[in-house]
Amino acid sequence: MRVFSGIRASGDKTLGNYSGGYRQYLQMQDEALAAGGEAFFCVVDLHSITTPFEPEVLRESTLSGFAWLIATGVDPGRSTVFVQSHVPAHPEAAWLLGAVTSMGELRRMTQFKDRAEEQDFVAAGLFTYPVLMAADILLYNTDVVPVGDDQRQHVELTRDIAERFNQRFGETLVVPRVRNPQEGARVKNLQEPDRLMSTTRGAPQGVVRMIDPPDVIRKKFKTAVTDSGREVKHDPEEKAGVSNLIEIMAVVTGVSISEVESRYDGAGYGQFKEDVGEAVVSLLTPFRERYDELRADEAALRRLMKQGSEKAAGVANPTLERMYERMGFVGA
Ligand code: TRP
Repeated sequence: MRVFSGIRASGDKTLGNYSGGYRQYLQMQDEALAAGGEAFFCVVDLHSITTPFEPEVLRESTLSGFAWLIATGVDPGRSTVFVQSHVPAHPEAAWLLGAVTSMGELRRMTQFKDRAEEQDFVAAGLFTYPVLMAADILLYNTDVVPVGDDQRQHVELTRDIAERFNQRFGETLVVPRVRNPQEGARVKNLQEPDRLMSTTRGAPQGVVRMIDPPDVIRKKFKTAVTDSGREVKHDPEEKAGVSNLIEIMAVVTGVSISEVESRYDGAGYGQFKEDVGEAVVSLLTPFRERYDELRADEAALRRLMKQGSEKAAGVANPTLERMYERMGFVGA
């Protein structure tokens, strides 16, 4: 079983990115390896230029996105971790796949429609984004693509593109399956538990960043918003703040929500908040230390990137060659 995941490089990482992202990547890796397969993790920097972007920010978020994958446990020795722009087969394959993708299909993509509406300047790349994503997936003979609902349509399109290519040029590409990853808790802002934890919106004091030092994290949990009651009970409607803390505790310590509830039955909010903070500190500290190490030595980080892209190219290039050949290119 071969699993492929593309990870968008974006700003500061939060506890929400851990819960919904890094934690899942690790699980994917372990499942793939246990099944005798392998996992590919690709920081999709080429996708970042399809909406407005700043060069310095792209550079920083690519380096940090790559470093966080490894810092949180993806093993570059057993999985393939790389940066999309380091493997030129991706944009090349996307160009070839453009021949078997229709304008009509791309126009139907809801992500395109939504994003195009938000912008004055709609880049052509935003329209062809799904073709590059199809290339990412198809170059690796991927069996399984774990994506959330927002990306399902893109993977369905990838299947159609692969089938059309195979029909037109002969059996060449593996048709991948979508798989919904196990839904991670949607971590909310500790100060405004009705909105998701994000560095771009909401009270900064309620945002736990993965680079926050322990004391900053402890303080953020101590000052987390709760309610006037005192029961540690999961009730997202009536007790959004406490419910968020319970979910965080469950994710971070790997126990169920009801187990957290019963453990803190009658304990009061003060103790509970302190314990959640401490659990988060214990989880994030080794990640942050590893991250700092990786970022302190850019040469070493770049060696890991190079190692990853060489491994990736070793799989992608033969697929690309086959595509060229089947399509009738004479080759150099
Ligand atoms: N489009 C995906 C997202 O926005 C990122 C992505 C790019 C991806 N290429 C991929 C995901 C290939 C899975 C497989 O999150």
